[in-house]
Amino acid sequence: MAIPTETVYGLAANAFDEAAVLKVFEAKQRPSFDPLIVHVAERDDVLRVARDFPPGTRELMDAFWPGPLTLVLPKRSEVPDIVTSGLDTVGVRMPSHPVARALLNELDFPLAAPSANTFGYVSPTTAQHVADQLGDRIQYILDGGPCDVGVESTIIGWDDGQWVLYRPGGIPLERIEEVIGRIATAQRKVLPVAPGMLESHYAPRKPVYVGDVVVLLKEHANTRVGVISFRTQYDARRCEVLSPKGDIAEAARHLFGALRALDNSDCAVILAEQFPHEGLGAAINDRLRRAATR
Ligand code: TXA
Ligand code: MG
Repeated sequence: MAIPTETVYGLAANAFDEAAVLKVFEAKQRPSFDPLIVHVAERDDVLRVARDFPPGTRELMDAFWPGPLTLVLPKRSEVPDIVTSGLDTVGVRMPSHPVARALLNELDFPLAAPSANTFGYVSPTTAQHVADQLGDRIQYILDGGPCDVGVESTIIGWDDGQWVLYRPGGIPLERIEEVIGRIATAQRKVLPVAPGMLESHYAPRKPVYVGDVVVLLKEHANTRVGVISFRTQYDARRCEVLSPKGDIAEAARHLFGALRALDNSDCAVILAEQFPHEGLGAAINDRLRRAATR
């Protein structure tokens, strides 16, 4: 079943039910090396999936939960390997969306849920986005309206005695560092430490170029161009201005919808600005960069 969260819609299954989780992988056509995030109703429920709490875990939960922060913690053996792709850690978060919370409160198990898109594509931020891609493969979509945050959760993990950023997202890194101090950036290791780290991801079907839009528009003068900009209206076949008043959180909220709209339009290429790198801008730039990687 697809469920709304404050970040993006998720495709949810009982985290302790291997067969149910397998269906999620199948519906998404997701490779088995990409682990899922487990969603819990309450802070205390984390101990049903995680063995122990590295230093700072409580402070992080108190500061940002419920909300868009995923913590990668040492896993309990009760969590099936399929959820974590065989890793000895599990990604957990407590979502803030009222519909997700109401559902989790009704259930006596946590929900494993990746974003409700086919693997590698842009994440869904409305129930309609989910229906467009997965409508014929899943039975239910719980409609909780458009997602408030619009980009996925920030993922951090405890690795070798320090907190490490695996994926920028809905909680800006600066705010996390105010709570637990400096966070390291994940170095690419052998396999998908965090497949949110896969280079080509969040990608529309059409080519995406990120940079100075004025320059890019000249380079693509002979094609039908769709532009994604922060606040500037460019002269192009289509221009999706994410926040005319220059609010970076509003821009994040509109990013994936704009990428989808341009991907479904008659434009041949998508050009995007580089966003200011503060606050949610880091997550926006990360998603655009991955959308642009071929
Ligand atoms: O906001 C979100 O995080 C959304 C909503 C539905 O909660 N979920 C989401 O899930 O974005 P998904 O599957 O698209 O991304 C989950 C990512 C994986 O790609 C992986 O990078 C990371 O979470 N992850 C999960 N478990 C992990 C673990 N044990 N170690 C490292 N990374 C992990
Ligand atoms: Mg995803």
